[in-house]
Amino acid sequence: MSKRYEKSEALLDLTLKSIPLGTQTFSKSTTQFPRGVSPYFIQKGKGSQVWDVDGNQYTDFINSLAAITLGYNDPDVDAAVKAQMEDGVIFSLAHPIERIVAEKLIEMVPCAEKVRFGKNGSDATAGCVRLARAFTGRDRIAVCGYHGWQDWYIGSTARNRGVPKATRELTHPFQYNKIETLDELFRKHPGEFAGVIMEAKNSVDPIPGWHESVKELTHKHGALLIFDETITGFRYANGGAQELFGVTPDLASFGKGLANGYPVSAVVGRGDVMKLMEEIFFSFTFGGETLSLAAAGATLEKLRTKPVIKTMRENGERVKKLVAERIQRYDLGETLSISGDPTWSFVNFLEHPKTSPWITKTLFLQEMLARGIMILTTHNMSYAHTDADIDGLTNAYDEVLPMISEGVRTGTVEKMLKCKPLEPLFKLR
Ligand SMILES: Cc1ncc(COP(=O)(O)O)c(C=O)c1O
Repeated sequence: MSKRYEKSEALLDLTLKSIPLGTQTFSKSTTQFPRGVSPYFIQKGKGSQVWDVDGNQYTDFINSLAAITLGYNDPDVDAAVKAQMEDGVIFSLAHPIERIVAEKLIEMVPCAEKVRFGKNGSDATAGCVRLARAFTGRDRIAVCGYHGWQDWYIGSTARNRGVPKATRELTHPFQYNKIETLDELFRKHPGEFAGVIMEAKNSVDPIPGWHESVKELTHKHGALLIFDETITGFRYANGGAQELFGVTPDLASFGKGLANGYPVSAVVGRGDVMKLMEEIFFSFTFGGETLSLAAAGATLEKLRTKPVIKTMRENGERVKKLVAERIQRYDLGETLSISGDPTWSFVNFLEHPKTSPWITKTLFLQEMLARGIMILTTHNMSYAHTDADIDGLTNAYDEVLPMISEGVRTGTVEKMLKCKPLEPLFKLR
C-alpha cells in the first residue's frame, strides 16, 4: 500500500467498523475509488483545491459530485450563511427567506411558476413524480438517466434490492435520442403513463429536435414532461438545460449546484400542477432550513451577477479540447473518448480487445489521483478553476495517457495496477 494514502487507509478501516461502505454516498466509496491507490477522506477545501487527510493536495474535478459550482468556501456564500446563522437555522414556522429564494428561482428558470424546496435531488425527483401521478391519476413513469436513490426510480436499475416488485413494475426506462423506445412504452400501456422524467442531456449530445419530440409525444399521451435538472440546473445555463435547449417542461427538479454544496433541492413547475402540492404530501422537518436557503440565495445572486457559467463553459471547452487532442496524439481512440457538456464532460472508457473499461479506468484513477487530480470520470467544472489548474490537468493527461497507451499496445494495463481493478458496476448513464 502506498504511503501517500496511509492515513486515509487506516481511517477507512476504522470507519468501516461503524459505517457500511465507509461513507454516506455510493460515489465516494471503494466501489468507485480503487483501494490502495486512492484517498478516502478529505479534510478541507478552498476554491478549486482540496486536501485529503494525509495532507495531499488536489485540484478537484469532481466538485462534490457536481454540487460545487462556485468553488469550495465561496466567500459570498459563506458570508450569507454566517449572517443567517446569527438568527437561527430552523424555526417552528416558515421563514421569509423561503419566498425570497423561490422568487429568484421563478425569475431564472423558464418552467418555474411555483416552487417547493427539498434537501436532496432525490426529494425533488420524487416530488415531481408524485405530482405527475396526482395530476394525471396514472401510475407509470418513463425514465431516462439517473434520478436518485428512492424506490420509484432505483427499482428500475440493476441495484434494486429491497424495492418491492409492484413498485419496480411501474418505472420504465427508455433510450436517449431514440424516440421509438418511448413511443413503444406509450403503445404498450396506453393511457397509463403519468410522466416522463429525463436528464435533458448527460454524456451524449441530443439529436436535433430530440427534446421537442419527447415533449410532443409525452403531451400527446396525456403525460407530464419532467426535466431532472439536479446536475444541469445552474450548470448548463442560469435557467438550466431547459433554457439551453429552449424546451420548457411541465416540472423540473433542481439540487446540487443550487446552493454551492449546501443541502437544498427544489421542485419547480407549472402553477396548475404545483398547486397540487397542497393536496399531496411533500413535507419534511428540514424543508425550510434557512442556512442552505441563504446559501442558495447568495449562489443564485452570484450566478446572475458574475460570469459563472461563461467561465465554467470556456474552461470546460479547453478541457474537452485538450483531452480530445491527447486521445488522438496517444493513439487511444479505441480505448477512450470524451463527450458531454463542457461544464460536465465525460471521459468514456471503451471495450477493447486488450483491456476492459474497468481495468483502464482503475489505471486512470490510480495515476490521476497520484498527480493531484481529484477525478472520477467526468470533469465537473467550477467557477474557481484557474488557468494554472487547467495546466496542471494538461500535464497530468500528458503523463497518464502515454502510460495507458503503452499498456494497451502491449496488453499490460492490468499489470500496471498497484491495486485490484474496480469491480464492474451498474451503469446509469
Ligand atoms: C440527475 C440526477 N438526479 C437526481 C439525483 C439524486 O440527487 P441526490 O443524490 O442529491 O438525492 C442525482 C444525483 O447524482 C442526479 O445526478
